[in-house]
Amino acid sequence: MDTILLNPVIDPSAIDRAAGLLRAGEVVGMPTETVYGLGANALDPAAVAKIFDAKGRPQDNPLIVHIADAEALERICDDVPEPAKRLAAAFWPGPLTMVLPRVREIPASVTAGLPTVGVRLPAHPVARELIRRAGVPIAAPSANLSGRPSTTTAAHVLADMDGRIAAVLEGGPCEVGVESTIVSFAGETPRLLRPGGVSLEQLREILGKVDIDRALREQIGDDARVSAPGMKYRHYAPKANVTVVCGTPEDTAAYISKHLTNETGVLCFTEFAYLFEMHEMRTMGAADDPLTQARRIFDALRAFDETDVQEIYTQCPSDEGIGLAVANRLKKAAGFKVVNVV
Ligand code: TXA
Ligand code: MG
Repeated sequence: MDTILLNPVIDPSAIDRAAGLLRAGEVVGMPTETVYGLGANALDPAAVAKIFDAKGRPQDNPLIVHIADAEALERICDDVPEPAKRLAAAFWPGPLTMVLPRVREIPASVTAGLPTVGVRLPAHPVARELIRRAGVPIAAPSANLSGRPSTTTAAHVLADMDGRIAAVLEGGPCEVGVESTIVSFAGETPRLLRPGGVSLEQLREILGKVDIDRALREQIGDDARVSAPGMKYRHYAPKANVTVVCGTPEDTAAYISKHLTNETGVLCFTEFAYLFEMHEMRTMGAADDPLTQARRIFDALRAFDETDVQEIYTQCPSDEGIGLAVANRLKKAAGFKVVNVV
């Protein structure tokens, strides 16, 4: 299959053409403000199956359904609880996914047979226009091959998906850079399944108590039952082994410089770049700038695959704000191989 690149900046019909492909049951790489997604008609099981094929995704890992306006929520979910409505009012459109009881019309392949569905209303104007014109809810996982770092540019999507999907719709580099925050309303207390663009602090302001899923802290075994099935797989992984070094920025920079070999790559805060200039090194932004770190993290992880490094040491952002999401993606890329420098 030839994958076509559609660019709304130079082709006014680009979004319409992408919407037509979605209606015809094809898979389209689409921009969102978090990461690029692999979109397909969420109500068409054959189209949804093509997503799993293109990604090489395990069938037990459910997809997020994307809608273009908040009213569409009631057509996808049953009995939306009051706290979920408040959360939607506060953070939609935006980098927030809510796991809620689903209606029967959602195919089992989308939810991996679960009684719930993940729903998100993205903020990216091209994404919203695409969903609106497609006229159907759009199931979309991140647009990377399963296990690889997520994609934050159309070029990243083509690198993984050229020949595997019908088209990629260009929407520029993603503004947030890490995937959406996932909050589950399946239990008594709202539960954070994945940290993302909406911070835990922001969630607690609206919801009060929020539990934290254990998948955020440790690698989950293959046989484990987990709240977000995707959390049990090694994720975001470049080819080299990753070690995350946690502690103050000064201490972790010192630790890494002591442990380097010729085969080591380094992912560091900008102010420590001078220490690692003789190595394959990428910067993720200043230590106190988690927004930039989030925007750069997947591009940096992908860039190491173009090099010969056998291992990567990375400094770890602080757990505040979106830093929690960046630290989580790095720890997952490392299979939770973490060194604490004290
Ligand atoms: O920002 C994002 O959320 C991006 C963009 C494209 O919207 N999408 C994304 O999708 O990150 P994906 O498939 O890469 O990650 C979705 C995660 C998986 O870990 C999956 O297991 C979990 O959401 N998930 C989806 N539906 C669920 C459900 N009903 N219950 C629990 N977890 C669910
Ligand atoms: Mg993903």
